Amino acid sequence: MKHTFTMISAGLFAALMAGPAMAAEKLTYYCSAQEDWCQLMANGFQDASGIDVNMTRKSSGETFAQIKAEASNPKGDVWWGGTGDPHLQAAEEGLTEPYVSPMREELQDWSISQATSAGDKTIGIYSGALGYGYNSELLAKNNLPVPACWKDLLKPEYKGHVQMANPNSSGTAYTTLATIVQLFGEEEGFEFMKGLHKNINQYTKSGSAPIKAAARGESIIGIVFMHDAVAQAVAGFPIKVVAPCEGTGYEIGSMSIIKGARNMENAKKFYDWALSKEAQALALQVNAFQVPSNKMAPTSDKAPDLASIKLIDYDFGKYGSSDERKRLLKKWDEEVSTLPQ
Ligand code: G6P
Repeated sequence: MKHTFTMISAGLFAALMAGPAMAAEKLTYYCSAQEDWCQLMANGFQDASGIDVNMTRKSSGETFAQIKAEASNPKGDVWWGGTGDPHLQAAEEGLTEPYVSPMREELQDWSISQATSAGDKTIGIYSGALGYGYNSELLAKNNLPVPACWKDLLKPEYKGHVQMANPNSSGTAYTTLATIVQLFGEEEGFEFMKGLHKNINQYTKSGSAPIKAAARGESIIGIVFMHDAVAQAVAGFPIKVVAPCEGTGYEIGSMSIIKGARNMENAKKFYDWALSKEAQALALQVNAFQVPSNKMAPTSDKAPDLASIKLIDYDFGKYGSSDERKRLLKKWDEEVSTLPQ
């Protein structure tokens, strides 16, 4: 009897000791790219590493706000995707952790400069140009002119037919605001945003929602990254993609490790893996037509060719800085979003 008891206790003890070592490894992953790509990256990493991934998708501005709100008790480990500006702001505000990945030598210069400008607290994972798309069937049905420039979007005929996201929640829409200010200057840029406001039917939370609405026929024009409009066209919707004639801005989609991450080692493993050509090649499975930051990762022939688009020299240092982003968003809130339509 005594013998059996000892055997059981010994067994229990061994199980308890083994417990922590055998507990599943975890990663809490915040994602700001398109939902299906976020999910594929979560599954891909889980398969490659055996680490359990808990993924949440929120827009870039929203994820930034969440990481800031959680700063005294961080819940997330790594933030992948979304426009670079809020990642730069997070770096400046000390919300993210410096890390120099051994994968750097495989990356494009624009990806590395994003890292070096932020003390290695973020890095570029993809890039893509801003523009807009329109539903060509609805445009024709409503006898509307074909738009080609940013300023075309101010035409009174488009009233109620244009959709964009809210720049507070969406990195796409913040890129739009910053692009317009850089293209036309601040005063004229805000006049443009006020004029555009008259034609907007809805400011969505997520950046790509406006082109999905146009694809479904719920709206006609959606201001989005050009690759998001291409994705709808490739999916078979009557969407035409526009690179605005005046020139346009672009994003460096970024990745950052959250300061105080509970699973810091796993965050670094994810980071290295996400920079590999294999991980970046997953994009093509979900029609994500951004340009990858790994030089060896494939780019789809359907991806907008950045070399043939008139790109502005987007000032990431300025528009990704905490003061400037806060100032522009406040100004947009006060001077544009409150205006009657
Ligand atoms: C889409 C684009 C990404 C971009 C992201 C930003 O998913 O494909 O290239 O980084 O939007 O999302 P947000 O909702 O913040 O505008």
